[in-house]
Amino acid sequence: MFIEAYTSLLLTCIFLYFGHGTSASAYNYTTTTKCLKVPQEALYGGGIIVNPDFNHNIEGWKPFGQGKIEERISKDGNRFLAAHSRQNASDSFSQKVQVEQGKIYTFSASVQVSEGNEIVAVVFKFPTGDEIRGGDVIAEHGCWTLLKGGIVANFTSPVEILFESKNTAVEIWVDNVSLQPFTKEEWRSHQYKSIIERRKSQVRLQVTQSNKTPLRGARVSIKQTKSDFPFGCGMNHNILTSTDYQNWFASRFKFTTFTNEMKWYSTEKIKGQENYTIADGMVKFAKENGISIRGHNVFWDDPKMQPGWVNITLSSEELRTAAAERIHSVVSRYKGQLIAWDVMNENLHFRFFEDKLGENASAAFYYTAQQLDPGTMMFMNEYNTMEYSSDEASSPANYKKKLQEILSYPGNANLTAGIGLQGHFGSGQPNLAYMRSVLDFLGATGFPIWLTEVDVGVGPNQPQYLEEVLREGYSHPAVQGIIMFVGPITAGFNVTTLADKNFNNTPSGDVVDRLIAEWKTGPLETTTDDQGFIDVSLFHGGYEVTAEDNVTNSSTTLSFKVTKAEPQAFIQVQIDT
Ligand SMILES: *[C@@H]1O[C@H](CO)[C@@H](O)[C@H](O)[C@H]1NC(C)=O
Ligand SMILES: *[C@@H]1O[C@H](CO)[C@@H](O)[C@H](O)[C@H]1NC(C)=O
Ligand SMILES: *[C@@H]1O[C@H](CO)[C@@H](O)[C@H](O)[C@H]1NC(C)=O
Ligand SMILES: *[C@@H]1O[C@H](CO)[C@@H](O)[C@H](O)[C@H]1NC(C)=O
Ligand SMILES: *[C@@H]1O[C@H](CO)[C@@H](O)[C@H](O)[C@H]1NC(C)=O
Ligand SMILES: *[C@@H]1O[C@H](CO)[C@@H](O)[C@H](O)[C@H]1NC(C)=O
Ligand SMILES: *[C@@H]1O[C@H](CO)[C@@H](O)[C@H](O)[C@H]1NC(C)=O
Ligand SMILES: *[C@@H]1O[C@H](CO)[C@@H](O)[C@H](O)[C@H]1NC(C)=O
Ligand SMILES: *[C@@H]1O[C@H](CO)[C@@H](O)[C@H](O)[C@H]1NC(C)=O
Ligand SMILES: *[C@@H]1O[C@H](CO)[C@@H](O)[C@H](O)[C@H]1NC(C)=O
Ligand SMILES: *[C@@H]1O[C@H](CO)[C@@H](O)[C@H](O)[C@H]1NC(C)=O
Repeated sequence: MFIEAYTSLLLTCIFLYFGHGTSASAYNYTTTTKCLKVPQEALYGGGIIVNPDFNHNIEGWKPFGQGKIEERISKDGNRFLAAHSRQNASDSFSQKVQVEQGKIYTFSASVQVSEGNEIVAVVFKFPTGDEIRGGDVIAEHGCWTLLKGGIVANFTSPVEILFESKNTAVEIWVDNVSLQPFTKEEWRSHQYKSIIERRKSQVRLQVTQSNKTPLRGARVSIKQTKSDFPFGCGMNHNILTSTDYQNWFASRFKFTTFTNEMKWYSTEKIKGQENYTIADGMVKFAKENGISIRGHNVFWDDPKMQPGWVNITLSSEELRTAAAERIHSVVSRYKGQLIAWDVMNENLHFRFFEDKLGENASAAFYYTAQQLDPGTMMFMNEYNTMEYSSDEASSPANYKKKLQEILSYPGNANLTAGIGLQGHFGSGQPNLAYMRSVLDFLGATGFPIWLTEVDVGVGPNQPQYLEEVLREGYSHPAVQGIIMFVGPITAGFNVTTLADKNFNNTPSGDVVDRLIAEWKTGPLETTTDDQGFIDVSLFHGGYEVTAEDNVTNSSTTLSFKVTKAEPQAFIQVQIDT
């Protein structure tokens, strides 16, 4: 019975990923951030773009705004389009395409500027006048940078695709433009394919007698005891006083972040009077329940988020001393007990410490944190990078630049750095094409990405949008963990509430529970074939298997692990019959 259920599930997946139009992987991200001398052809052959590589002069394209456009030919004969004599950021060129409601459009183009380096963005302009920024990148002169992004079409409508760069003194050069539509089913099929490749391994199990003779018809039951992928949830101080909250949390999650309780403003409200009572209590609860903790945060670069005595009364020198005491205190206290630290929260939007202590303030704190707790991964942690395409401060290109600054600080070359993306989505349709392009871009740096504070604004489609965001994160190969900032209403989680005041699931709570179940292998009951084999695809994690001879009823139980390092594994179970 199990075999049948499993086989049909597998067939469904295969159907999903071979059964639809484009089979090309959208997770082709490893070369995304390099500026290439040898250029790249248009992805998906340009998709629905007319004349994507300008081999037919400017057919399909027209000037946008007041600039002028012309086709250029490089020394090696490559034809591209240039916008020059620009007076306005959006003076460039455009092509009009038709988009269909509900489809997801991935955009890409090779871009270059005529001198220096500048941010170049792609913009989708609707007939209503609404503009959606579809992505941006820092383009350089002398090589071609891949600009990736896209939109989810909320309406069936014509839309004009154009480019933007603030410095009107430079020309915008573009080649090999691509806009590829995907249905939501096709999008989902990329995700299934990636999950099978990246989150599961193909496991062959053989049941034999102690003399190695294969046992045919042996009954095998496999149970997953631990999941390797960190899919966790923020928690707050209410966990210390509510057994309902404790039970709710511990029955679901093995990874957490304390939403506020480790922050400086919580542990040292009054200068010199540290109080870790609450944070310590939460660490104790987590340990007792086998829950791993991301430390959040050592510092927060927002002037409004300092302890009251810090942002107003301290001179630069006093701040330097106080900050040194803070970092030594909190990082040493939890040394070896955390899986991560958000060292300088939100240092792309804010610069409280940079303003007071100098440009290297963040970088220096990363150095100190790593010295104090060398085994723990040190994260940047930002909002809007993947959830909102129009916030240039925390754009993926600026994120990468800041990360490189931190790494180039003396002593930081080997920092075990992580990329934290908060993921506070609004109540509207999340731009999944943009989100995937951001994960591609930052993933190409090679550093692990965690989604650190995922939630979705209050609205009628919250459960659906939450599911879309979580699936996009889980299936992306560069993402190594997801923490949501969500929970029961009794603990104050009023943005994405998972449980009502009686701890019954909300629709968003149902989504989370469904995904927890989907992302692990359910209990399997099966029997071995003629050679004593069974073949299964298992999620990475810990397992317990029991094999029972169907004649003597003798059995053996053993534990095994399925890891990412082994895409194919062989497990042998011997039974003394
Ligand atoms: C993936 O990247 C490789 C290497 O850059 C390229 O040859 C290939 O065409 C890309 N495939 C897709 C679907 O983007
Ligand atoms: C565009 O793609 C063509 C191949 O289709 C290639 O010859 C050309 O160099 C590419 N140009 C850029 C700028 O990537
Ligand atoms: C610049 O472009 C914007 C957006 O298209 C437009 O609103 C504005 O009027 C333009 N400014 C000038 C001086 O043309
Ligand atoms: C044991 O399994 C084999 C192979 O499926 C089957 O032929 C045989 O009848 C089974 N024996 C018992 C006692 O269930
Ligand atoms: C520390 O915090 C706890 C919890 O808020 C409180 O009960 C305790 O009185 C505080 N200790 C001091 C010395 O203020
Ligand atoms: C200082 O921090 C407090 C919160 O602790 C905040 O209310 C206040 O606005 C901040 N002051 C400045 C100047 O940022
Ligand atoms: C700090 O940054 C400045 C530039 O802002 C640089 O000149 C200096 O060398 C840096 N100091 C260290 C220790 O890296
Ligand atoms: C970083 O690692 C490399 C290779 O292991 C080593 O040679 C180098 O000294 C390390 N740098 C620092 C600052 O620790
Ligand atoms: C429309 O789609 C874009 C993403 O393509 C999104 O940013 C925006 O919020 C959507 N609007 C609504 C009302 O859902
Ligand atoms: C959630 O609660 C906070 C604090 O009580 C309040 O400021 C905020 O408006 C509430 N948000 C929603 C969506 O109810
Ligand atoms: C094995 O167990 C089955 C029921 O599970 C029982 O009917 C059978 O007699 C047992 N065989 C032996 C050899 O104990």
